[in-house]
Amino acid sequence: MNIKKDFSLKSYNTFGIDAKANFFAQVTTVEELREILVSKDFPTKFILGGGSNMLLLKDVDALVIHIAIKGISIVSEDDNHAVVKVMAGENWHDMVLWTIDHGYGGLENMSLIPGNTGTAPVQNIGAYGVELKDNFLSCEAVERATNKLKTFSKADCKFGYRESFFKNEGKDQYIITSVTFKLTKKSHKLNTNYGSIEDELDKKNIKKPTVKDISNAVIAIRNSKLPDPKEIGNSGSFFKNPLVDQHVFNQFSLENPNAPFYKISETEYKIPAGWLIEQCGFKGKRYGDAGVHTKQALVLVNYQNATGKEIMDLANTIIKAVEKKFKIRITPEVNLIQ
Ligand code: EPU
Repeated sequence: MNIKKDFSLKSYNTFGIDAKANFFAQVTTVEELREILVSKDFPTKFILGGGSNMLLLKDVDALVIHIAIKGISIVSEDDNHAVVKVMAGENWHDMVLWTIDHGYGGLENMSLIPGNTGTAPVQNIGAYGVELKDNFLSCEAVERATNKLKTFSKADCKFGYRESFFKNEGKDQYIITSVTFKLTKKSHKLNTNYGSIEDELDKKNIKKPTVKDISNAVIAIRNSKLPDPKEIGNSGSFFKNPLVDQHVFNQFSLENPNAPFYKISETEYKIPAGWLIEQCGFKGKRYGDAGVHTKQALVLVNYQNATGKEIMDLANTIIKAVEKKFKIRITPEVNLIQ
Protein backbone atom coordinates (compact mmCIF):
# COMPACT_ATOMS: atom_id res chain seq x y z
CA MET A 1 0.00 0.00 0.00
CA ASN A 2 1.26 3.44 -0.91
CA ILE A 3 1.66 5.50 2.26
CA LYS A 4 2.31 9.22 1.86
CA LYS A 5 3.95 11.45 4.45
CA ASP A 6 3.02 15.03 5.48
CA PHE A 7 0.07 14.93 3.13
CA SER A 8 -2.17 17.98 2.70
CA LEU A 9 -5.85 17.19 3.30
CA LYS A 10 -7.05 20.39 1.58
CA SER A 11 -8.69 18.56 -1.31
CA TYR A 12 -10.01 15.80 0.97
CA ASN A 13 -12.28 18.00 3.11
CA THR A 14 -15.04 20.09 1.54
CA PHE A 15 -14.23 23.00 3.87
CA GLY A 16 -10.90 23.15 2.02
CA ILE A 17 -8.87 23.47 5.23
CA ASP A 18 -5.15 23.05 4.56
CA ALA A 19 -4.35 20.73 7.48
CA LYS A 20 -1.77 17.97 7.06
CA ALA A 21 -1.91 14.27 7.78
CA ASN A 22 1.22 12.79 9.27
CA PHE A 23 0.65 9.75 7.07
CA PHE A 24 -2.01 9.09 4.43
CA ALA A 25 -3.22 5.90 2.73
CA GLN A 26 -6.12 5.12 0.47
CA VAL A 27 -7.96 1.79 0.65
CA THR A 28 -10.07 0.46 -2.21
CA THR A 29 -11.27 -2.86 -0.77
CA VAL A 30 -12.61 -4.05 2.60
CA GLU A 31 -9.66 -6.48 2.77
CA GLU A 32 -7.16 -3.64 2.33
CA LEU A 33 -8.92 -1.71 5.07
CA ARG A 34 -8.81 -4.62 7.51
CA GLU A 35 -5.17 -5.23 6.69
CA ILE A 36 -4.07 -1.68 7.44
CA LEU A 37 -6.21 -1.48 10.57
CA VAL A 38 -4.09 -4.16 12.25
CA SER A 39 -0.78 -2.65 11.15
CA LYS A 40 1.44 -2.02 14.17
CA ASP A 41 3.50 0.60 12.29
CA PHE A 42 0.86 3.27 12.88
CA PRO A 43 -0.59 3.25 16.39
CA THR A 44 -3.08 6.06 15.71
CA LYS A 45 -5.43 5.81 12.78
CA PHE A 46 -7.98 8.30 11.54
CA ILE A 47 -10.74 7.31 9.14
CA LEU A 48 -11.66 9.73 6.36
CA GLY A 49 -14.71 9.38 4.14
CA GLY A 50 -15.96 12.16 1.89
CA GLY A 51 -14.67 14.82 4.31
CA SER A 52 -17.92 16.72 3.90
CA ASN A 53 -18.97 17.01 7.51
CA MET A 54 -15.87 17.91 9.42
CA LEU A 55 -13.79 20.86 10.44
CA LEU A 56 -10.07 20.19 10.79
CA LEU A 57 -8.86 22.32 13.69
CA LYS A 58 -5.24 21.21 13.42
CA ASP A 59 -2.92 18.79 11.62
CA VAL A 60 -3.86 15.15 12.06
CA ASP A 61 -1.15 13.32 13.96
CA ALA A 62 -2.09 9.86 12.70
CA LEU A 63 -2.29 7.61 9.69
CA VAL A 64 -5.29 8.98 7.79
CA ILE A 65 -7.07 6.13 6.00
CA HIS A 66 -9.14 7.38 3.11
CA ILE A 67 -12.04 5.05 2.32
CA ALA A 68 -12.26 4.72 -1.48
CA ILE A 69 -14.12 1.39 -1.65
CA LYS A 70 -16.38 1.51 -4.70
CA GLY A 71 -19.28 -0.49 -6.10
CA ILE A 72 -23.07 -0.46 -6.43
CA SER A 73 -25.03 -3.69 -6.80
CA ILE A 74 -28.64 -4.80 -6.86
CA VAL A 75 -28.92 -7.42 -4.12
CA SER A 76 -32.50 -8.48 -4.86
CA GLU A 77 -35.65 -7.15 -6.44
CA ASP A 78 -39.30 -7.93 -6.94
CA ASP A 79 -42.08 -6.06 -8.76
CA ASN A 80 -42.24 -3.32 -6.14
CA HIS A 81 -38.82 -2.94 -4.57
CA ALA A 82 -35.12 -3.10 -5.25
CA VAL A 83 -32.55 -3.73 -2.57
CA VAL A 84 -29.35 -1.90 -3.49
CA LYS A 85 -25.98 -2.26 -1.78
CA VAL A 86 -23.59 0.66 -2.07
CA MET A 87 -19.95 0.55 -1.01
CA ALA A 88 -18.79 3.26 1.39
CA GLY A 89 -16.53 5.17 -0.99
CA GLU A 90 -19.23 5.88 -3.57
CA ASN A 91 -20.01 9.58 -3.86
CA TRP A 92 -23.48 10.12 -2.38
CA HIS A 93 -24.93 12.28 -5.16
CA ASP A 94 -23.55 10.11 -8.00
CA MET A 95 -25.14 7.12 -6.26
CA VAL A 96 -28.50 8.95 -5.94
CA LEU A 97 -28.37 9.72 -9.68
CA TRP A 98 -27.63 6.05 -10.38
CA THR A 99 -30.76 5.00 -8.44
CA ILE A 100 -32.85 7.58 -10.31
CA ASP A 101 -31.49 6.44 -13.69
CA HIS A 102 -32.61 2.94 -12.74
CA GLY A 103 -36.09 4.31 -11.99
CA TYR A 104 -35.82 3.67 -8.25
CA GLY A 105 -37.51 6.01 -5.79
CA GLY A 106 -36.60 7.00 -2.25
CA LEU A 107 -33.41 9.03 -2.33
CA GLU A 108 -34.46 11.85 -4.71
CA ASN A 109 -35.05 14.47 -1.99
CA MET A 110 -31.48 13.92 -0.84
CA SER A 111 -29.94 14.76 -4.23
CA LEU A 112 -26.75 16.83 -4.23
CA ILE A 113 -25.83 16.27 -0.58
CA PRO A 114 -22.02 16.33 -0.54
CA GLY A 115 -19.99 13.45 0.85
CA ASN A 116 -19.69 9.71 0.51
CA THR A 117 -22.29 7.01 1.09
CA GLY A 118 -20.39 5.35 3.93
CA THR A 119 -20.56 8.38 6.18
CA ALA A 120 -24.21 9.14 5.46
CA PRO A 121 -25.58 6.88 8.24
CA VAL A 122 -23.28 8.42 10.88
CA GLN A 123 -25.31 11.58 11.03
CA ASN A 124 -28.45 10.23 9.34
CA ILE A 125 -28.23 12.83 6.57
CA GLY A 126 -31.46 14.43 5.47
CA ALA A 127 -33.01 17.12 3.32
CA TYR A 128 -36.41 18.34 2.16
CA GLY A 129 -38.48 16.12 4.42
CA VAL A 130 -36.58 12.85 3.92
CA GLU A 131 -33.81 11.30 6.00
CA LEU A 132 -31.42 8.47 5.18
CA LYS A 133 -33.21 6.23 7.70
CA ASP A 134 -36.43 6.34 5.63
CA ASN A 135 -34.92 4.07 2.94
CA PHE A 136 -32.20 2.37 4.95
CA LEU A 137 -32.19 -1.40 5.32
CA SER A 138 -28.79 -2.19 6.86
CA CYS A 139 -25.11 -1.40 6.78
CA GLU A 140 -21.88 -3.29 7.24
CA ALA A 141 -19.01 -2.02 9.33
CA VAL A 142 -15.62 -3.24 10.48
CA GLU A 143 -15.39 -3.32 14.26
CA ARG A 144 -12.06 -1.80 15.17
CA ALA A 145 -11.56 -3.84 18.34
CA THR A 146 -11.95 -7.21 16.59
CA ASN A 147 -11.35 -6.30 12.92
CA LYS A 148 -14.54 -8.27 12.09
CA LEU A 149 -17.25 -7.22 9.68
CA LYS A 150 -20.62 -6.73 11.39
CA THR A 151 -24.08 -6.07 9.99
CA PHE A 152 -26.26 -3.38 11.55
CA SER A 153 -30.05 -3.33 11.13
CA LYS A 154 -31.98 -0.08 11.11
CA ALA A 155 -32.85 -0.56 14.80
CA ASP A 156 -29.17 -1.17 15.67
CA CYS A 157 -28.28 2.21 14.15
CA LYS A 158 -30.56 4.16 16.56
CA PHE A 159 -31.18 6.93 14.05
CA GLY A 160 -32.35 10.37 15.21
CA TYR A 161 -32.20 13.90 13.80
CA ARG A 162 -28.59 14.10 12.53
CA GLU A 163 -27.80 11.35 15.05
CA SER A 164 -27.02 7.65 15.14
CA PHE A 165 -25.35 4.91 17.18
CA PHE A 166 -22.15 5.63 15.20
CA LYS A 167 -22.07 9.23 16.45
CA ASN A 168 -22.75 8.24 20.07
CA GLU A 169 -22.11 4.87 21.80
CA GLY A 170 -20.39 3.50 18.70
CA LYS A 171 -18.25 6.58 18.06
CA ASP A 172 -14.81 5.75 16.60
CA GLN A 173 -15.41 2.02 17.08
CA TYR A 174 -16.74 1.07 13.64
CA ILE A 175 -15.92 1.86 10.03
CA ILE A 176 -18.90 1.59 7.73
CA THR A 177 -17.97 -0.25 4.55
CA SER A 178 -21.34 -0.50 2.79
CA VAL A 179 -24.93 0.72 3.06
CA THR A 180 -27.97 -1.19 1.79
CA PHE A 181 -31.15 0.65 0.79
CA LYS A 182 -34.66 -0.58 0.04
CA LEU A 183 -36.01 1.52 -2.82
CA THR A 184 -39.33 1.57 -4.64
CA LYS A 185 -39.74 0.50 -8.28
CA LYS A 186 -43.31 1.76 -8.53
CA SER A 187 -45.94 3.53 -6.39
CA HIS A 188 -43.14 5.83 -5.26
CA LYS A 189 -43.77 7.65 -2.00
CA LEU A 190 -43.06 11.13 -3.31
CA ASN A 191 -42.40 13.78 -0.72
CA THR A 192 -43.22 17.20 -2.15
CA ASN A 193 -44.54 18.76 1.05
CA TYR A 194 -41.51 20.94 1.50
CA GLY A 195 -42.71 24.34 0.27
CA SER A 196 -39.86 25.17 -2.03
CA ILE A 197 -40.16 21.82 -3.88
CA GLU A 198 -43.78 22.58 -4.74
CA ASP A 199 -42.81 26.06 -5.93
CA GLU A 200 -40.07 24.63 -8.11
CA LEU A 201 -42.45 22.08 -9.70
CA ASP A 202 -45.09 24.79 -10.24
CA LYS A 203 -42.51 26.96 -11.98
CA LYS A 204 -42.05 24.19 -14.52
CA ASN A 205 -45.77 23.44 -14.58
CA ILE A 206 -45.20 19.86 -13.48
CA LYS A 207 -48.41 18.40 -12.06
CA LYS A 208 -47.49 14.71 -11.76
CA PRO A 209 -43.82 14.72 -10.84
CA THR A 210 -41.55 11.75 -11.42
CA VAL A 211 -38.68 10.81 -9.14
CA LYS A 212 -36.37 12.56 -11.61
CA ASP A 213 -38.49 15.75 -11.51
CA ILE A 214 -38.16 15.88 -7.73
CA SER A 215 -34.44 15.30 -7.90
CA ASN A 216 -34.13 18.14 -10.44
CA ALA A 217 -36.22 20.43 -8.22
CA VAL A 218 -34.02 19.67 -5.19
CA ILE A 219 -30.87 20.25 -7.25
CA ALA A 220 -32.22 23.64 -8.39
CA ILE A 221 -33.13 24.66 -4.81
CA ARG A 222 -29.82 23.54 -3.35
CA ASN A 223 -27.87 25.28 -6.13
CA SER A 224 -29.74 28.51 -5.41
CA LYS A 225 -29.13 28.45 -1.64
CA LEU A 226 -26.11 26.37 -0.80
CA PRO A 227 -22.54 27.06 -1.91
CA ASP A 228 -20.82 24.49 -4.13
CA PRO A 229 -17.83 23.18 -2.13
CA LYS A 230 -15.84 23.06 -5.39
CA GLU A 231 -16.12 26.85 -5.51
CA ILE A 232 -16.35 27.92 -1.86
CA GLY A 233 -15.24 25.62 0.97
CA ASN A 234 -18.08 24.59 3.30
CA SER A 235 -19.60 21.66 5.16
CA GLY A 236 -23.28 22.33 4.53
CA SER A 237 -25.16 23.25 7.69
CA PHE A 238 -22.54 24.06 10.28
CA PHE A 239 -25.09 23.98 13.12
CA LYS A 240 -28.06 21.79 13.98
CA ASN A 241 -31.49 23.33 14.22
CA PRO A 242 -32.07 23.55 17.99
CA LEU A 243 -34.82 21.45 19.52
CA VAL A 244 -36.64 23.26 22.32
CA ASP A 245 -39.33 22.20 24.78
CA GLN A 246 -42.78 23.73 25.16
CA HIS A 247 -41.74 26.13 27.89
CA VAL A 248 -38.82 27.59 25.96
CA PHE A 249 -40.89 27.64 22.77
CA ASN A 250 -43.79 29.56 24.38
CA GLN A 251 -41.49 32.31 25.56
CA PHE A 252 -39.60 32.37 22.25
CA SER A 253 -42.72 32.63 20.09
CA LEU A 254 -44.18 35.32 22.33
CA GLU A 255 -41.08 37.43 21.76
CA ASN A 256 -40.66 36.39 18.10
CA PRO A 257 -44.14 35.89 16.68
CA ASN A 258 -42.87 35.81 13.07
CA ALA A 259 -40.15 33.23 13.56
CA PRO A 260 -40.40 30.04 11.49
CA PHE A 261 -40.55 26.73 13.42
CA TYR A 262 -41.36 23.05 12.95
CA LYS A 263 -43.47 21.16 15.47
CA ILE A 264 -41.65 17.87 16.09
CA SER A 265 -43.88 16.31 18.77
CA GLU A 266 -46.56 17.42 21.20
CA THR A 267 -43.94 19.14 23.34
CA GLU A 268 -40.94 19.71 21.07
CA TYR A 269 -40.21 22.34 18.44
CA LYS A 270 -37.31 22.83 16.06
CA ILE A 271 -36.29 26.40 15.34
CA PRO A 272 -34.24 27.06 12.19
CA ALA A 273 -30.77 28.06 13.32
CA GLY A 274 -30.34 29.89 10.00
CA TRP A 275 -33.10 32.27 11.01
CA LEU A 276 -31.63 32.85 14.49
CA ILE A 277 -28.19 33.57 13.00
CA GLU A 278 -29.61 35.91 10.35
CA GLN A 279 -31.50 37.84 13.05
CA CYS A 280 -28.20 38.38 14.85
CA GLY A 281 -26.88 40.09 11.72
CA PHE A 282 -24.33 37.50 10.59
CA LYS A 283 -25.73 36.52 7.21
CA GLY A 284 -23.19 37.27 4.46
CA LYS A 285 -20.60 38.60 6.91
CA ARG A 286 -16.95 37.91 6.18
CA TYR A 287 -14.04 37.95 8.61
CA GLY A 288 -10.83 37.42 6.66
CA ASP A 289 -11.40 34.22 4.71
CA ALA A 290 -14.02 32.85 7.14
CA GLY A 291 -17.62 33.83 6.56
CA VAL A 292 -21.33 33.19 6.82
CA HIS A 293 -22.91 32.25 3.48
CA THR A 294 -24.83 35.07 1.81
CA LYS A 295 -27.92 32.96 1.02
CA GLN A 296 -28.14 30.58 4.01
CA ALA A 297 -26.85 31.70 7.39
CA LEU A 298 -26.60 28.12 8.68
CA VAL A 299 -23.62 27.53 6.39
CA LEU A 300 -20.15 28.77 7.30
CA VAL A 301 -17.71 29.17 4.44
CA ASN A 302 -13.99 29.23 3.77
CA TYR A 303 -13.42 31.75 1.00
CA GLN A 304 -9.90 30.48 0.39
CA ASN A 305 -7.31 30.15 3.09
CA ALA A 306 -9.18 30.22 6.40
CA THR A 307 -7.84 27.90 9.07
CA GLY A 308 -10.08 25.55 11.03
CA LYS A 309 -9.50 27.73 14.06
CA GLU A 310 -10.68 30.87 12.24
CA ILE A 311 -13.89 29.10 11.22
CA MET A 312 -14.36 27.83 14.79
CA ASP A 313 -13.76 31.30 16.27
CA LEU A 314 -16.53 32.61 14.02
CA ALA A 315 -18.78 29.70 15.04
CA ASN A 316 -18.20 30.49 18.73
CA THR A 317 -18.95 34.18 18.18
CA ILE A 318 -22.24 33.17 16.51
CA ILE A 319 -23.15 30.70 19.28
CA LYS A 320 -22.62 33.42 21.91
CA ALA A 321 -24.61 36.05 20.01
CA VAL A 322 -27.56 33.69 19.42
CA GLU A 323 -27.58 32.67 23.06
CA LYS A 324 -27.49 36.27 24.22
CA LYS A 325 -30.31 37.39 21.95
CA PHE A 326 -32.60 34.34 22.10
CA LYS A 327 -31.47 32.36 25.17
CA ILE A 328 -31.17 29.35 22.90
CA ARG A 329 -27.88 27.53 22.51
CA ILE A 330 -27.07 26.22 19.05
CA THR A 331 -24.51 23.45 18.60
CA PRO A 332 -22.29 22.44 15.68
CA GLU A 333 -23.51 19.70 13.38
CA VAL A 334 -20.10 19.12 11.81
CA ASN A 335 -17.50 16.94 13.51
CA LEU A 336 -14.77 19.02 15.05
CA ILE A 337 -11.42 17.30 14.58
CA GLN A 338 -8.90 18.40 17.20
N1 EPU B 1 -33.85 30.85 7.25
C1 EPU B 1 -33.61 32.18 7.44
N2 EPU B 1 -32.36 32.64 7.16
C2 EPU B 1 -31.37 31.84 6.69
C3 EPU B 1 -31.63 30.48 6.50
C4 EPU B 1 -32.89 29.99 6.78
O1 EPU B 1 -34.47 32.93 7.86
O2 EPU B 1 -30.29 32.36 6.45
C5 EPU B 1 -35.22 30.34 7.48
C6 EPU B 1 -35.90 30.01 6.15
O3 EPU B 1 -36.53 31.13 5.62
C7 EPU B 1 -36.88 28.96 6.54
C8 EPU B 1 -36.15 28.21 7.64
O4 EPU B 1 -35.16 29.09 8.15
O5 EPU B 1 -38.05 29.52 7.08
C9 EPU B 1 -35.57 26.89 7.21
O6 EPU B 1 -34.61 27.10 6.20
P1 EPU B 1 -34.23 25.98 5.11
O7 EPU B 1 -35.45 25.48 4.45
O8 EPU B 1 -33.15 26.51 4.25
O9 EPU B 1 -33.72 24.74 5.97
P2 EPU B 1 -32.80 24.65 7.26
O10 EPU B 1 -33.63 24.22 8.40
O11 EPU B 1 -32.02 25.90 7.43
C10 EPU B 1 -32.26 22.11 6.96
C11 EPU B 1 -31.07 21.20 6.91
C12 EPU B 1 -30.37 21.29 5.56
C13 EPU B 1 -31.37 20.89 4.49
C14 EPU B 1 -32.58 21.83 4.58
C15 EPU B 1 -33.68 21.42 3.64
C16 EPU B 1 -30.28 21.06 9.22
C17 EPU B 1 -29.20 21.40 10.18
N3 EPU B 1 -30.13 21.53 7.98
O12 EPU B 1 -31.81 23.46 6.85
O13 EPU B 1 -29.31 20.33 5.56
O14 EPU B 1 -30.79 20.98 3.20
O15 EPU B 1 -33.16 21.79 5.92
O16 EPU B 1 -34.26 20.23 4.08
O17 EPU B 1 -31.21 20.34 9.57
C18 EPU B 1 -27.00 19.98 5.93
O18 EPU B 1 -27.33 19.26 6.87
O19 EPU B 1 -25.79 20.15 5.62
C19 EPU B 1 -28.04 20.67 5.17
C20 EPU B 1 -27.75 21.56 4.22
